[in-house]
Amino acid sequence: MTQPPPQTRNDLDRRVPGRRVRDSASETTELVLPQHANVHGSVLGGTVMHWIDLTAALVANRHSRRPVVTAAIDEMSFLAPIRIGEVAMLKGRITLADRSSMEIRVDVESENLLTGERRHTSTAFVTFVALDPVTGRPAPVPPLVLETDEERAEHARAVERRRLRLERRVALKDS
Ligand SMILES: CC(C)(COP(=O)(O)OP(=O)(O)OC[C@H]1O[C@@H](n2cnc3c(N)ncnc32)[C@H](O)[C@@H]1OP(=O)(O)O)[C@@H](O)C(=O)NCCC(=O)NCCS
Repeated sequence: MTQPPPQTRNDLDRRVPGRRVRDSASETTELVLPQHANVHGSVLGGTVMHWIDLTAALVANRHSRRPVVTAAIDEMSFLAPIRIGEVAMLKGRITLADRSSMEIRVDVESENLLTGERRHTSTAFVTFVALDPVTGRPAPVPPLVLETDEERAEHARAVERRRLRLERRVALKDS
């Protein structure tokens, strides 16, 4: 028996209603406590990455309404420390939806609760894959509806990031 051809993004776009960026955008806030900190009194990089992963997962779940797994986290930098007693604010939004994968951008800002000063401390791009709850295999996600010029520009950059990411994936598999 011949297998049906794999569904393309265009096939899916014709059948599934799209979701807007704002339908899944999510924000989480974390107060930095001593148990989150390193010996210098600022939050551990791994803890920030955990919060980024969770914020991005929320966005991916809301967009796909499916179980999701993290497939990749792009290189990320820590531009400034977030100190004990400060708040970390994480804002996540979807930038690209392909067949089963989604790219989520998470921006992290610190807020000093005494002065109100806010600083951009990190930006990360996280790829999630939606899974079929029964088979556990990658499953289609709704297309992304882009409403603003900013969303369209971010999406164009996301397409290029995806291309580079998939090249790296092939290189990693071959090594
Ligand atoms: C992510 C995972 C489900 C992909 O499964 P797979 O059998 O390799 O499936 P495919 O090759 O068909 O890829 C499925 C999708 O994932 C994307 N993908 C897979 N690995 C990727 C990577 N490293 N970077 C970016 N996208 C990736 C593919 O491009 C494809 O996207 P598309 O459907 O939108 O075109 C599988 O590798 C996995 O389960 N990894 C472990 C996930 C995990 O444990 N995460 C940490 C805990 S949540």
